[in-house]
Amino acid sequence: MSKKLLLIPGPTPVVDRILGVLAEPTVSHISPEMERDLKQALENLKKIVFTRDGQPFIVAGAGTLAMEIALLNIVDDKEKVLVVSQGYFGQRMAEICQAFGFEYHLLQSSWGKVVTVEELAGELKKHKYAVVVCTHVDTATGACAPVREYAEAVTVHQPEALFVVDGVCATGGIEERMDDWGIDVILTAAQKCLGAPPGLAIDVFSPRAMEKRKKMARVKAYYADIMRWLPVMENPNRYFSTPCVNEIRAFAEATRIVLEEGLEKRFERHERFAAAIRSGLRSLGFSTYTDETCLASTLSVLKYPQGLDDASFRKILYENGVVVAGGLGPTAGQVFRFGHMGNLTREDVIFAFDAIEKTLLSLGYEFSLGDGVETVRSLLVR
Ligand SMILES: Cc1ncc(COP(=O)(O)O)c(C=O)c1O
Repeated sequence: MSKKLLLIPGPTPVVDRILGVLAEPTVSHISPEMERDLKQALENLKKIVFTRDGQPFIVAGAGTLAMEIALLNIVDDKEKVLVVSQGYFGQRMAEICQAFGFEYHLLQSSWGKVVTVEELAGELKKHKYAVVVCTHVDTATGACAPVREYAEAVTVHQPEALFVVDGVCATGGIEERMDDWGIDVILTAAQKCLGAPPGLAIDVFSPRAMEKRKKMARVKAYYADIMRWLPVMENPNRYFSTPCVNEIRAFAEATRIVLEEGLEKRFERHERFAAAIRSGLRSLGFSTYTDETCLASTLSVLKYPQGLDDASFRKILYENGVVVAGGLGPTAGQVFRFGHMGNLTREDVIFAFDAIEKTLLSLGYEFSLGDGVETVRSLLVR
C-alpha cells in the first residue's frame, strides 16, 4: 500500500522511532522490559500534564474508555454531573452519563464556539454539582475551551466539585497544568497529540480524585475500575488483565519524544503550525468554520470556497497522498478537518499543501498556483 500522509484529527502519523518499538517482539507483561517502559510511560505522563502527585492509568482501549473511566470512578450515587460541551464529544460525555444512569445537566454552546466562563460561573452559582466535566478541544468543531479559566470558576464557585478535562485532542499538544490549575482528572488517548498508534485509554487522577474513589463503596465498572488497575500501575509485575505490551512500550517511546522536544517548545510548535496552515488555506480561498476566538492549535475545520465539492476534494487529495477528514454531524459535507497535532514536521505540511494545490488544479478551481505552498513555507522557516 502506498504511504499516505495522515492529516485527520487522530490518529496522527506515527514516526519510525515509535513504529520500531511497536514492531519489537512481544515480551511478557511481567518482563523487565515491560516494567521499565510502563513505569517510564507513567512518569512521563505526569510530566506531560504537570502533576507531582497525580496517579496515571494506562489501559488498553481508546479515548471513549478513558471518558468512562473518569466518570465511573468519581461519580457516586445521587451525585450530579455538569457537562460543559462545545459539540460532539461533550454530547458523548452526556451519553455516557445516560448509559450509567448518572444525573447530569448539559451546558452546551453552539457549534464552532465554546461555553463562556461567565456562562459556566452562572450555572455553578445556581446549582450544585459533584463533578464538572469539559472537553478541551472538540475534534468535530475545532473549538478550544478556556480550560484554565473553567478550572478557576469551579474552584471559586464550587470548591468541592471535581473538575475533569477531556484532553483527547489536546494533551501533549496544548498546555494542561493539572496541579497549578486545579484539574482533578485529565483523560486522553494515545493516538492524537502524543503521536502513538491508537489503542490506549489514558487517565491521570489527582490525589483528591483518588481519595474520592477510595471512599466510594462501589462503582459501576469492572474493567474500568481504577482500583483494579492501581496495583498494576504501582508495580507492573502484578496482573489484573493482560496489558497490550507492544502498544504500551511504543507509547513509552512516544512520551520520550514529547519530553525530548520539550513541552513549551511543543506547545509553541503546535501554535505556529496551526497559524501557518490556516494562513495557507486562507490564501487558497478556504475559511475557518470555528469562531476566531477559540481556534484550537491541534486541528482546523475549514469551509470550502464556492464551487468545491467535499467528496471530490477529499477523494482526489487522497489520491495525491494526503488523508483529511470530513465534517461530523451538522457540518458533514460543508467542511473538511485538517489535523495538525502530534509529531508533524514542516516537510509534512509543505507536502500537504503541494497535494492540496494539485487537487484544486485537477478540480478546475481557480486560484493562484503556489500561494498556499509559499505561505506555509515562509511561515515555517524556523
Ligand atoms: C475530544 C475527544 N474526546 C473523546 C474522543 C473519543 O476517543 P476515541 O475515538 O479514541 O474513543 C475523541 C475522538 O476523537 C475526541 O476527539
